[in-house]
Amino acid sequence: MKDIKIFAPATVANVSCGFDAMGFALDNLGDTMIFRKNKDRSIRINKIEGAKLPFDIYKNASGYVAKKMLVDAEANFGIDIEIYKKYKPGSGLGSSAASSSGTAFAINELLDRKYTQLELVKYAMLGEEVACGSQIADNVAAALYGGFILVRSYSPLDIISIPTPAELYVTVIHPQIMVKTLDGRNVLPKKVKLKKAIKQWANLGGLVSGLCLNDYDLIARSIEDVIAEPVRKLFIPHFDLVKESVTDCGGLAAGISGSGPSIFALSKGQEQAQKVKEAMNKVYQDKGIEYNLYVSKIGMEGVRTL
Ligand code: HSE
Repeated sequence: MKDIKIFAPATVANVSCGFDAMGFALDNLGDTMIFRKNKDRSIRINKIEGAKLPFDIYKNASGYVAKKMLVDAEANFGIDIEIYKKYKPGSGLGSSAASSSGTAFAINELLDRKYTQLELVKYAMLGEEVACGSQIADNVAAALYGGFILVRSYSPLDIISIPTPAELYVTVIHPQIMVKTLDGRNVLPKKVKLKKAIKQWANLGGLVSGLCLNDYDLIARSIEDVIAEPVRKLFIPHFDLVKESVTDCGGLAAGISGSGPSIFALSKGQEQAQKVKEAMNKVYQDKGIEYNLYVSKIGMEGVRTL
């Protein structure tokens, strides 16, 4: 194989109660990337469309992941990369994770699948460190595995695929303001009261059980975040109104996507997800903020060849 074109999905990390530990992939929103082998063994980013990102491979998540994988594999070729971003960085929808995991997947294909899926997650986490300062696995694992994932442990890394109910849909509103993951992490409490911690891990257990049991009501009542949401929602215009509008119109629940500012809502069925879209739209229209709205099935495939 000399070149490859891939789709790398947007992802929702945390899913409210699973800070740094849960995530899922979208089906129809994500970036496109093209990778071409070259003989001079250099790694170059030739094109970036849709976002302002560094072309320096040591500062670009994709370039860095490609470099690391090829050096470790002692590859006898280099790579020319083209990146087509379809949604903005700083959205809370795993933009850097799409670049990192898309690169890990594509380079592995060009190396005749030298690495395991877990190793790809580890390489993609290096890209996350370049882009946002920490080796976080929730977005990249969701992008690579597809569906819902749980990062059961960071050390050693242990990723679990969680079953996804067939009728689960997500609606996302992305206000066009930028919240850097680093800023979203700096506001988090350094200590958490035991009472709150109990609530959070009980909800995470509830969410995982609900997904496994196809129990939509259990999923709905488990999507609660008593740790990050109370401080992070302050960055997001009209967050409480949007959240209320989701449940008022029959959606299951809503929360902050990753570190924000996007807000995700889960629904049973596409029709309900469209109603949620209209409800979110009603809250934001005429408020003078630009925004994008998306409805997607949960993306079961993750990164894929186009
Ligand atoms: N779990 C991360 C956070 C998601 O909430 O900061 C961003 O990668």
